[in-house]
Amino acid sequence: MDLKKWLEAPAAGISAPKRPRLNMVRGAFTRITTPLLPDDYLHLANPLWSARELRGRIVRVEKETATAVTLVIQPGWGFNFDYRPGQYIGIGLHLGGRWHWRSYSLTSPPNWEDKLISITVKAMPEGFLSSHLVGGVPQGTIVRLAAPKGNFALPVPPPNKILFVTAGSGITPIISMLRALDRHGDMPDTVHIHSAPTEDEVMFAAEIAALEKSHPNFTSHVQLTRSDGKFALASLDELYPDWRTRDTWACGPAALLEEIEKTWKREKIEDSLHLERFEISRADTSGAGGTVTFSRSDKKTTVDGATSLLEAGENVGVQMPFGCRMGICQTCVVPLTAGHVIDLRSGKEHSEGDRVQTCISAAAGDCTLEL
Ligand code: FES
Repeated sequence: MDLKKWLEAPAAGISAPKRPRLNMVRGAFTRITTPLLPDDYLHLANPLWSARELRGRIVRVEKETATAVTLVIQPGWGFNFDYRPGQYIGIGLHLGGRWHWRSYSLTSPPNWEDKLISITVKAMPEGFLSSHLVGGVPQGTIVRLAAPKGNFALPVPPPNKILFVTAGSGITPIISMLRALDRHGDMPDTVHIHSAPTEDEVMFAAEIAALEKSHPNFTSHVQLTRSDGKFALASLDELYPDWRTRDTWACGPAALLEEIEKTWKREKIEDSLHLERFEISRADTSGAGGTVTFSRSDKKTTVDGATSLLEAGENVGVQMPFGCRMGICQTCVVPLTAGHVIDLRSGKEHSEGDRVQTCISAAAGDCTLEL
Protein backbone atom coordinates (compact mmCIF):
# COMPACT_ATOMS: atom_id res chain seq x y z
CA MET A 1 0.00 0.00 0.00
CA ASP A 2 1.47 3.42 -0.89
CA LEU A 3 1.70 6.11 1.76
CA LYS A 4 -1.37 8.00 0.56
CA LYS A 5 -3.53 4.88 0.57
CA TRP A 6 -2.16 3.83 3.91
CA LEU A 7 -3.04 7.17 5.43
CA GLU A 8 -6.44 7.33 3.77
CA ALA A 9 -7.56 3.86 4.75
CA PRO A 10 -10.46 3.94 7.21
CA ALA A 11 -9.23 4.50 10.73
CA ALA A 12 -10.28 1.88 13.23
CA GLY A 13 -13.37 0.88 11.37
CA ILE A 14 -14.89 4.33 11.28
CA SER A 15 -14.74 5.54 7.71
CA ALA A 16 -15.81 8.81 6.24
CA PRO A 17 -16.02 7.65 2.62
CA LYS A 18 -16.79 11.07 1.21
CA ARG A 19 -14.12 12.79 3.24
CA PRO A 20 -10.77 11.20 2.45
CA ARG A 21 -8.88 14.11 3.99
CA LEU A 22 -10.56 13.54 7.29
CA ASN A 23 -9.70 9.88 7.06
CA MET A 24 -6.13 10.78 6.25
CA VAL A 25 -5.75 12.82 9.41
CA ARG A 26 -7.41 10.17 11.52
CA GLY A 27 -5.55 7.39 9.80
CA ALA A 28 -2.25 9.16 10.40
CA PHE A 29 -3.06 9.61 14.06
CA THR A 30 -4.10 6.01 14.40
CA ARG A 31 -1.03 4.61 12.74
CA ILE A 32 1.66 7.00 13.87
CA THR A 33 0.65 6.86 17.50
CA THR A 34 0.21 3.08 17.62
CA PRO A 35 0.73 1.19 19.90
CA LEU A 36 -0.44 4.03 22.16
CA LEU A 37 -4.09 4.71 21.59
CA PRO A 38 -4.67 7.78 19.43
CA ASP A 39 -7.64 8.62 21.56
CA ASP A 40 -5.29 9.37 24.41
CA TYR A 41 -3.88 12.27 22.42
CA LEU A 42 -7.03 13.34 20.65
CA HIS A 43 -9.10 13.35 23.77
CA LEU A 44 -6.71 15.74 25.49
CA ALA A 45 -7.18 18.31 22.76
CA ASN A 46 -10.93 17.91 22.34
CA PRO A 47 -13.24 15.26 23.79
CA LEU A 48 -15.12 15.08 20.49
CA TRP A 49 -12.03 13.93 18.60
CA SER A 50 -11.84 10.21 18.59
CA ALA A 51 -10.39 7.89 16.00
CA ARG A 52 -12.20 4.91 17.46
CA GLU A 53 -15.78 5.97 17.86
CA LEU A 54 -18.32 8.61 17.03
CA ARG A 55 -18.89 11.09 19.77
CA GLY A 56 -21.07 14.10 20.27
CA ARG A 57 -21.71 16.90 22.71
CA ILE A 58 -25.18 17.88 23.90
CA VAL A 59 -25.28 21.59 23.15
CA ARG A 60 -28.92 22.33 23.95
CA VAL A 61 -31.84 20.66 25.72
CA GLU A 62 -35.24 21.95 24.61
CA LYS A 63 -38.49 21.05 26.29
CA GLU A 64 -41.12 19.69 23.88
CA THR A 65 -43.85 18.56 26.30
CA ALA A 66 -43.97 17.79 30.03
CA THR A 67 -42.44 14.39 29.31
CA ALA A 68 -40.31 14.94 26.22
CA VAL A 69 -37.20 16.92 25.36
CA THR A 70 -35.20 17.55 22.23
CA LEU A 71 -31.46 17.11 22.59
CA VAL A 72 -29.45 19.12 20.12
CA ILE A 73 -26.11 17.39 19.61
CA GLN A 74 -22.93 18.53 17.92
CA PRO A 75 -21.36 15.37 16.51
CA GLY A 76 -17.60 15.01 16.44
CA TRP A 77 -15.34 13.66 13.71
CA GLY A 78 -16.61 11.19 11.20
CA PHE A 79 -20.33 11.83 11.51
CA ASN A 80 -22.05 11.65 8.16
CA PHE A 81 -24.61 14.42 7.83
CA ASP A 82 -26.03 12.84 4.69
CA TYR A 83 -28.45 10.67 6.62
CA ARG A 84 -31.95 10.21 5.28
CA PRO A 85 -34.90 11.80 7.09
CA GLY A 86 -36.57 9.07 9.12
CA GLN A 87 -33.37 7.25 10.11
CA TYR A 88 -32.29 6.74 13.72
CA ILE A 89 -29.03 6.95 15.63
CA GLY A 90 -27.72 5.13 18.67
CA ILE A 91 -26.74 7.24 21.64
CA GLY A 92 -24.67 6.05 24.59
CA LEU A 93 -24.29 7.80 27.93
CA HIS A 94 -21.91 6.88 30.70
CA LEU A 95 -23.97 6.62 33.85
CA GLY A 96 -23.34 4.84 37.08
CA GLY A 97 -20.12 3.31 35.79
CA ARG A 98 -21.38 1.83 32.57
CA TRP A 99 -22.54 2.82 29.11
CA HIS A 100 -26.28 2.87 28.53
CA TRP A 101 -27.44 2.78 24.94
CA ARG A 102 -30.71 3.44 23.17
CA SER A 103 -31.63 4.35 19.64
CA TYR A 104 -33.75 7.35 18.73
CA SER A 105 -35.05 8.75 15.49
CA LEU A 106 -33.25 11.83 14.29
CA THR A 107 -35.64 14.75 14.37
CA SER A 108 -33.34 17.08 12.48
CA PRO A 109 -33.45 17.18 8.69
CA PRO A 110 -30.20 16.13 6.96
CA ASN A 111 -27.39 18.56 6.21
CA TRP A 112 -28.07 21.19 8.73
CA GLU A 113 -25.72 24.02 7.91
CA ASP A 114 -24.75 24.41 11.54
CA LYS A 115 -23.71 20.75 11.65
CA LEU A 116 -25.97 19.90 14.54
CA ILE A 117 -28.36 16.99 14.85
CA SER A 118 -31.27 16.46 17.17
CA ILE A 119 -33.21 13.63 18.73
CA THR A 120 -36.44 13.95 20.67
CA VAL A 121 -36.77 11.71 23.69
CA LYS A 122 -39.95 10.88 25.55
CA ALA A 123 -39.54 9.62 29.10
CA MET A 124 -40.75 6.06 29.41
CA PRO A 125 -41.65 4.84 32.90
CA GLU A 126 -39.43 1.79 32.56
CA GLY A 127 -36.74 3.52 30.52
CA PHE A 128 -33.71 4.31 32.65
CA LEU A 129 -31.91 6.25 29.95
CA SER A 130 -34.95 8.11 28.59
CA SER A 131 -35.92 9.22 32.11
CA HIS A 132 -32.40 10.46 32.70
CA LEU A 133 -32.36 12.35 29.41
CA VAL A 134 -35.74 13.97 29.98
CA GLY A 135 -35.10 14.52 33.68
CA GLY A 136 -32.18 16.83 33.04
CA VAL A 137 -29.07 15.75 31.23
CA PRO A 138 -26.58 18.63 31.59
CA GLN A 139 -25.73 20.71 28.57
CA GLY A 140 -22.17 19.91 27.49
CA THR A 141 -22.44 16.19 28.23
CA ILE A 142 -20.30 14.07 25.91
CA VAL A 143 -22.14 11.10 24.43
CA ARG A 144 -21.17 8.23 22.18
CA LEU A 145 -23.05 7.96 18.92
CA ALA A 146 -23.73 5.15 16.49
CA ALA A 147 -24.01 6.13 12.82
CA PRO A 148 -27.47 6.86 11.36
CA LYS A 149 -29.26 3.74 10.19
CA GLY A 150 -32.59 2.42 9.10
CA ASN A 151 -34.79 1.82 6.10
CA PHE A 152 -37.67 3.83 7.43
CA ALA A 153 -36.70 6.85 5.43
CA LEU A 154 -38.02 9.23 2.86
CA PRO A 155 -36.71 8.51 -0.64
CA VAL A 156 -35.25 11.16 -2.92
CA PRO A 157 -37.27 12.39 -4.73
CA PRO A 158 -40.25 11.85 -2.45
CA PRO A 159 -43.42 10.25 -3.80
CA ASN A 160 -46.17 12.53 -5.13
CA LYS A 161 -48.71 11.47 -2.52
CA ILE A 162 -47.85 10.63 1.07
CA LEU A 163 -49.76 9.45 4.13
CA PHE A 164 -48.08 9.56 7.54
CA VAL A 165 -49.80 7.75 10.42
CA THR A 166 -48.19 8.23 13.82
CA ALA A 167 -48.98 8.01 17.51
CA GLY A 168 -47.07 9.23 20.56
CA SER A 169 -43.33 9.40 20.00
CA GLY A 170 -43.89 7.73 16.61
CA ILE A 171 -44.03 11.27 15.31
CA THR A 172 -40.25 11.72 15.72
CA PRO A 173 -39.03 10.20 12.43
CA ILE A 174 -41.92 11.90 10.61
CA ILE A 175 -41.05 15.38 11.84
CA SER A 176 -37.61 14.87 10.32
CA MET A 177 -39.27 14.00 7.01
CA LEU A 178 -41.63 16.96 7.20
CA ARG A 179 -38.77 19.32 8.03
CA ALA A 180 -36.76 17.98 5.10
CA LEU A 181 -39.70 18.45 2.71
CA ASP A 182 -40.28 21.94 4.06
CA ARG A 183 -36.61 22.84 3.63
CA HIS A 184 -36.71 21.78 0.02
CA GLY A 185 -39.76 23.97 -0.40
CA ASP A 186 -41.46 21.25 -2.32
CA MET A 187 -44.16 19.61 -0.24
CA PRO A 188 -45.91 16.74 -2.04
CA ASP A 189 -49.60 16.09 -1.40
CA THR A 190 -49.24 14.93 2.21
CA VAL A 191 -51.70 13.86 4.91
CA HIS A 192 -50.44 13.35 8.46
CA ILE A 193 -52.66 11.60 11.01
CA HIS A 194 -51.23 11.83 14.50
CA SER A 195 -52.68 10.51 17.76
CA ALA A 196 -51.80 11.66 21.27
CA PRO A 197 -53.76 11.42 24.52
CA THR A 198 -54.20 15.18 25.07
CA GLU A 199 -53.31 18.44 23.40
CA ASP A 200 -50.43 18.99 25.81
CA GLU A 201 -48.86 15.75 24.74
CA VAL A 202 -48.73 16.52 21.03
CA MET A 203 -45.08 17.01 20.21
CA PHE A 204 -44.20 19.70 17.64
CA ALA A 205 -47.83 20.90 17.66
CA ALA A 206 -47.05 24.54 16.84
CA GLU A 207 -44.63 23.59 14.09
CA ILE A 208 -47.09 21.21 12.47
CA ALA A 209 -49.80 23.87 12.56
CA ALA A 210 -47.40 26.33 10.92
CA LEU A 211 -46.50 23.81 8.21
CA GLU A 212 -50.17 23.34 7.47
CA LYS A 213 -50.55 27.09 7.05
CA SER A 214 -47.55 27.52 4.81
CA HIS A 215 -48.11 24.43 2.60
CA PRO A 216 -51.60 24.12 1.09
CA ASN A 217 -50.63 20.57 0.07
CA PHE A 218 -50.13 19.48 3.66
CA THR A 219 -53.03 18.34 5.84
CA SER A 220 -52.59 17.57 9.52
CA HIS A 221 -55.16 15.53 11.42
CA VAL A 222 -54.53 15.42 15.16
CA GLN A 223 -56.55 12.86 17.08
CA LEU A 224 -56.75 13.49 20.83
CA THR A 225 -57.48 10.00 22.01
CA ARG A 226 -58.56 10.80 25.55
CA SER A 227 -61.43 12.99 24.34
CA ASP A 228 -62.04 11.72 20.78
CA GLY A 229 -61.17 8.03 21.08
CA LYS A 230 -58.65 6.29 18.91
CA PHE A 231 -58.40 7.01 15.22
CA ALA A 232 -60.44 4.42 13.33
CA LEU A 233 -58.71 3.21 10.19
CA ALA A 234 -62.19 2.49 8.83
CA SER A 235 -62.77 6.25 8.66
CA LEU A 236 -59.97 6.70 6.10
CA ASP A 237 -62.40 6.11 3.23
CA GLU A 238 -64.57 8.96 4.35
CA LEU A 239 -61.84 11.39 5.44
CA TYR A 240 -59.11 10.75 2.86
CA PRO A 241 -60.73 8.63 0.14
CA ASP A 242 -57.53 8.44 -1.92
CA TRP A 243 -55.52 6.89 0.95
CA ARG A 244 -54.90 3.70 -1.02
CA THR A 245 -52.95 5.64 -3.62
CA ARG A 246 -50.58 7.18 -1.10
CA ASP A 247 -47.17 5.91 -0.04
CA THR A 248 -47.60 5.40 3.69
CA TRP A 249 -45.15 5.68 6.57
CA ALA A 250 -46.46 4.58 9.96
CA CYS A 251 -44.75 4.68 13.33
CA GLY A 252 -46.15 4.16 16.79
CA PRO A 253 -47.14 1.48 19.30
CA ALA A 254 -47.08 -2.15 18.18
CA ALA A 255 -50.89 -2.52 18.29
CA LEU A 256 -51.39 0.37 15.88
CA LEU A 257 -48.76 -0.93 13.49
CA GLU A 258 -50.26 -4.42 13.49
CA GLU A 259 -53.67 -3.04 12.67
CA ILE A 260 -52.24 -0.93 9.85
CA GLU A 261 -50.27 -3.86 8.49
CA LYS A 262 -53.37 -6.06 8.42
CA THR A 263 -55.49 -3.37 6.76
CA TRP A 264 -52.91 -2.64 4.06
CA LYS A 265 -52.47 -6.36 3.40
CA ARG A 266 -56.21 -6.86 3.12
CA GLU A 267 -56.33 -4.03 0.59
CA LYS A 268 -53.33 -5.58 -1.22
CA ILE A 269 -51.38 -2.33 -1.01
CA GLU A 270 -48.74 -3.49 1.48
CA ASP A 271 -45.99 -2.63 -1.02
CA SER A 272 -46.67 1.04 -0.42
CA LEU A 273 -46.46 0.69 3.37
CA HIS A 274 -43.36 1.46 5.45
CA LEU A 275 -43.43 0.65 9.16
CA GLU A 276 -41.05 1.59 11.96
CA ARG A 277 -41.17 -0.52 15.08
CA PHE A 278 -39.34 0.92 18.05
CA GLU A 279 -39.12 -2.37 19.87
CA ILE A 280 -36.66 -4.83 18.40
CA SER A 281 -38.41 -8.16 18.00
CA ARG A 282 -35.77 -10.83 17.93
CA ALA A 283 -36.57 -13.15 15.08
CA ASP A 284 -37.20 -16.74 16.04
CA THR A 285 -34.11 -18.07 14.39
CA SER A 286 -34.38 -21.70 15.47
CA GLY A 287 -30.60 -21.49 15.13
CA ALA A 288 -28.84 -24.75 15.50
CA GLY A 289 -26.21 -23.60 17.97
CA GLY A 290 -22.85 -25.32 17.96
CA THR A 291 -19.32 -25.13 19.29
CA VAL A 292 -17.88 -21.63 19.33
CA THR A 293 -14.10 -21.45 19.26
CA PHE A 294 -12.28 -18.29 20.37
CA SER A 295 -9.06 -18.71 18.47
CA ARG A 296 -6.78 -16.21 20.23
CA SER A 297 -7.88 -17.10 23.74
CA ASP A 298 -7.81 -20.78 22.87
CA LYS A 299 -11.20 -21.42 24.45
CA LYS A 300 -14.28 -23.29 23.27
CA THR A 301 -17.86 -23.60 24.36
CA THR A 302 -20.94 -25.35 23.06
CA VAL A 303 -24.08 -23.23 23.05
CA ASP A 304 -27.66 -23.35 21.81
CA GLY A 305 -28.95 -21.19 18.99
CA ALA A 306 -30.43 -18.55 21.28
CA THR A 307 -27.30 -17.67 23.27
CA SER A 308 -25.47 -14.65 21.93
CA LEU A 309 -21.81 -15.10 21.03
CA LEU A 310 -21.04 -12.33 23.52
CA GLU A 311 -22.62 -14.31 26.37
CA ALA A 312 -21.02 -17.51 25.12
CA GLY A 313 -17.55 -15.93 25.31
CA GLU A 314 -18.12 -14.28 28.66
CA ASN A 315 -19.31 -17.57 30.13
CA VAL A 316 -15.95 -19.15 29.41
CA GLY A 317 -13.93 -16.11 30.50
CA VAL A 318 -13.01 -14.61 27.13
CA GLN A 319 -12.48 -10.84 27.22
CA MET A 320 -15.30 -9.79 24.93
CA PRO A 321 -15.54 -6.15 23.82
CA PHE A 322 -19.00 -4.73 24.29
CA GLY A 323 -20.90 -1.47 24.70
CA CYS A 324 -24.67 -1.41 24.40
CA ARG A 325 -25.28 -5.18 24.25
CA MET A 326 -28.26 -4.46 22.00
CA GLY A 327 -26.95 -4.10 18.47
CA ILE A 328 -26.50 -0.35 18.33
CA CYS A 329 -22.95 0.72 19.07
CA GLN A 330 -20.84 -1.77 17.03
CA THR A 331 -18.28 -2.05 19.86
CA CYS A 332 -18.62 -5.83 19.88
CA VAL A 333 -17.85 -6.41 16.20
CA VAL A 334 -15.23 -9.14 15.59
CA PRO A 335 -14.12 -11.19 12.59
CA LEU A 336 -15.69 -14.59 12.04
CA THR A 337 -12.86 -16.79 10.81
CA ALA A 338 -14.79 -20.02 10.25
CA GLY A 339 -18.31 -21.37 10.22
CA HIS A 340 -21.62 -19.58 10.29
CA VAL A 341 -23.47 -17.35 12.71
CA ILE A 342 -26.91 -15.87 12.56
CA ASP A 343 -28.04 -12.32 13.33
CA LEU A 344 -30.76 -12.84 15.94
CA ARG A 345 -32.60 -9.69 14.95
CA SER A 346 -32.78 -10.05 11.20
CA GLY A 347 -32.18 -13.77 10.76
CA LYS A 348 -29.36 -12.95 8.31
CA GLU A 349 -26.61 -15.55 8.18
CA HIS A 350 -22.94 -14.54 8.23
CA SER A 351 -20.09 -16.71 7.05
CA GLU A 352 -16.31 -16.86 7.20
CA GLY A 353 -14.65 -13.49 6.60
CA ASP A 354 -17.62 -11.42 7.80
CA ARG A 355 -17.38 -9.14 10.79
CA VAL A 356 -20.17 -9.92 13.22
CA GLN A 357 -21.85 -8.16 16.13
CA THR A 358 -21.43 -10.70 18.89
CA CYS A 359 -24.14 -9.20 21.12
CA ILE A 360 -26.92 -9.98 18.65
CA SER A 361 -25.50 -13.03 16.87
CA ALA A 362 -25.66 -16.72 17.75
CA ALA A 363 -23.90 -19.80 16.44
CA ALA A 364 -25.45 -21.49 13.42
CA GLY A 365 -23.31 -24.58 13.67
CA ASP A 366 -19.65 -24.67 14.72
CA CYS A 367 -17.85 -21.40 14.29
CA THR A 368 -14.63 -19.59 15.16
CA LEU A 369 -14.19 -16.00 16.28
CA GLU A 370 -10.89 -14.16 16.20
CA LEU A 371 -10.81 -13.28 19.87
S1 FES B 1 -23.55 -3.50 19.06
FE1 FES B 1 -23.20 -2.63 21.01
S2 FES B 1 -22.35 -4.30 22.10
FE2 FES B 1 -22.91 -5.16 20.22
